[in-house]
Amino acid sequence: MKSMYDVNLNEKTLLVRIDLNTTIKNGKPLINERFVEHSKTIKELIKMNAKIILIAHQGRPGEKDFISLHHHAKVLSKLVGRKIKFIPGLYEKKVVESIKFMKPKDVILLENVRFYDDEFSKNPRRTKFVKTLQPLIDYFILDAFSVAHRAQTSVIGFHPAIAGRVLLNELEGIEKIKHSKHPYMLIVGGGKIKEPLNLIHSLLKNGTADLILTGGVTALILMKSEGFDIDVEAKDDLINKSLADKLMSRYEDKIVLPLDLIDKNGESHPVYDLPHTKFYDIGNDTIKLYKEKIKSAKTILLSKPLGVYEKKKFENGTKKVFRAVSNCRAKKFAGGGDTVTALKKFKISLKKFDYVSLAGGAFLDFISGKKLPGLKVIKYSNCKD
Ligand code: 3PG
Repeated sequence: MKSMYDVNLNEKTLLVRIDLNTTIKNGKPLINERFVEHSKTIKELIKMNAKIILIAHQGRPGEKDFISLHHHAKVLSKLVGRKIKFIPGLYEKKVVESIKFMKPKDVILLENVRFYDDEFSKNPRRTKFVKTLQPLIDYFILDAFSVAHRAQTSVIGFHPAIAGRVLLNELEGIEKIKHSKHPYMLIVGGGKIKEPLNLIHSLLKNGTADLILTGGVTALILMKSEGFDIDVEAKDDLINKSLADKLMSRYEDKIVLPLDLIDKNGESHPVYDLPHTKFYDIGNDTIKLYKEKIKSAKTILLSKPLGVYEKKKFENGTKKVFRAVSNCRAKKFAGGGDTVTALKKFKISLKKFDYVSLAGGAFLDFISGKKLPGLKVIKYSNCKD
């Protein structure tokens, strides 16, 4: 796989896909690790004397955090220590003019790519976005591993495609996760089901994991398969239900389910006496059991919170189990969904982990053995240098 370190980028015009997707508070983006890491890539590209055009997204159409990247440019400028000019467009005349007048070391950020239907086109190469920008660039750099699972125009539409610093780091980190010692434990929760269930399935099927500790909606769906009458809704329910059934019938001895759950009032119920209601966290007996199990693991992969950790009433499971993981002797990895946000909320140093991925869905898909469209494009890109 060719990377930004394999080619001469002096005075070259680069289109660089980064990931600035973050939490929006009062209309403004909150700095996260992705900003910090991409700013390091940008600094390196500036040193290489390149002209740098950044593209990124924020939110999804129809959602509250689907906003312009205007403020993101300001945040990024501070981190890079150099003005990053925001151009409010993607392929309009003003964008083309700005690119034509760029000098080496200049950095510009274009508008949220998801503001344009071109981003979701089935024929990326035929979009105005690609047709306009492709002739103006020398290389496309995919720096954001976290979007490599999306077959969207800003990820797979441009060539020659090469890997950026952040993407290379992620691949190196994930390689370590794959080849770690047994007993190998996956601790998985979160509010979605499809990705965690696929992850559990693939890690058990290929013998990577020996034990799975569950929380969040994932645990509730698996408990339903065990016959518990729980009030839990999930999209793609049928597909997930059959995968959950399969997991519980094949791997019952390897999947650990909660012993108690917390309801909306913060009250704990043992699983042998559950009311038909919604649950938001694991209870104290489960926490105790999980802490005990963690002691015997040689490798732990932590993926997604175990409850609705954003609310004080439901933070206990995530806080205590994540802390126990951070203090144990096993090799530790974390990634997927809100995992990093939760670690930071509970002031758990990321340095305690052997590797922390910046990616959500891309991390889970990759660990599950899926081929990521963004990586495929780099692999098969015709890069002659
Ligand atoms: C993420 O936040 O995981 C990435 O930015 C991908 O976002 P998406 O799930 O909206 O494609």
